[in-house]
Amino acid sequence: MQHGRLKTLFPESVIQGRIAEMAWSIAEIFRGNELVILGLLRGSFIFLADLARALHKYQLPLKIDFMMVSSYGSDTRSSGVVEIENKTDLELKDQKVLLVDDILDSGRTLHLVSEYLLTQNPSCLRTCVLLDKPSHREIPFQADFVGFTIPNTFVVGYGLDLNNRYREMPYISCLADGEGEAVQK
Ligand code: IMP
Ligand code: MG
Repeated sequence: MQHGRLKTLFPESVIQGRIAEMAWSIAEIFRGNELVILGLLRGSFIFLADLARALHKYQLPLKIDFMMVSSYGSDTRSSGVVEIENKTDLELKDQKVLLVDDILDSGRTLHLVSEYLLTQNPSCLRTCVLLDKPSHREIPFQADFVGFTIPNTFVVGYGLDLNNRYREMPYISCLADGEGEAVQK
């Protein structure tokens, strides 16, 4: 399906199917334990909402909160400076924590946030992303649960934005060939 300069990469049904599989894997690992899920705003809000509902059937007791992280830059290029704007008030000491983000790209965001969370002494910290762009990594980082591995292309939808647009799309699209260049400043 074409939406102007957008090309669908993962339709809604494919995303939902993969989330169901991820929930099963997560439930296997954390079975019988309370799990604190921490999502990174803003990109993870839709993924986390669907993942949490997919986890419901496994009856894991969940606590859910969000942290706000900013990575300055514009359009499709980040400046590489990541800052934690809002931390969680939840007690993390001796808790099992799942850190959730929309996409793992350079690795800076998850590296920084994981380092911070480890200072809170959780008994276990795992990371979960819907998308992984390993070819764009600048800091070595591997997520424990990955929905889809994608090439180094800019994607939008399902929480992911281009200048705060497209987050509401229930599917994920990439910018059609050449558009990435056109929007880089
Ligand atoms: P990292 O710190 O470079 O790993 O990037 C993580 C953040 O960059 C994500 O949480 C996204 O907000 C943003 N990001 C990276 N790649 C994309 C993309 O293709 N589309 C939209 N946002 C992206
Ligand atoms: Mg983000």
